[in-house]
Amino acid sequence: MKKKIIYGLLAALIIIQFFPIDQNNPAVIDGQDYLASSQIPQETQTLIENACYDCHSNTTDYPWYFRPQPLGWCLKGHVKGGRSKINFSEWGSMSSEDQKHALHECIEVLEEKRMPIKSYTWLHGEAQLSDEQRAALIQHFGASH
Ligand code: HEC
Repeated sequence: MKKKIIYGLLAALIIIQFFPIDQNNPAVIDGQDYLASSQIPQETQTLIENACYDCHSNTTDYPWYFRPQPLGWCLKGHVKGGRSKINFSEWGSMSSEDQKHALHECIEVLEEKRMPIKSYTWLHGEAQLSDEQRAALIQHFGASH
């Protein structure tokens, strides 16, 4: 009986490998990107790109660990969830009201240390923010208000 369950689980694990995630990114439209559309120092741009862009833009990287399921589905869920809240690649298409709100929320999640998602920083050391970097980003988003 136990054996049957284990074989069943193994079979399921193999079958779900045939349902990969979509690794195509939506097109980035020239001039719409948050970083392209404003005067932001290079250092701050790099910070935002490293810490936020994999989930909040249309320039997501999909390393090998997006391939094994169900991990890939879970990670893609982060990308979908992140983009649905803020997509920096589509910044220019947002109303100024929505942009203001988004900047405000960015400050909030940084202050509360909710972003970048902790598990993401385990694999992306460059996204791990020091206290100074976090403070710099909070100041940046506050100044762009
Ligand atoms: C690993 C993916 C990932 C990274 C990296 C990431 N986010 Fe998010 N973000 C999400 C997901 C998923 C959500 C939606 C679910 C949630 O609210 O927790 C979200 C939600 C948000 C929200 C909406 C606020 C809210 O209460 O839901 C803001 C603002 C935000 N992120 C800003 C940022 C900023 C700024 C960075 C970089 C410093 C960042 N995120 C990095 C995945 C990510």
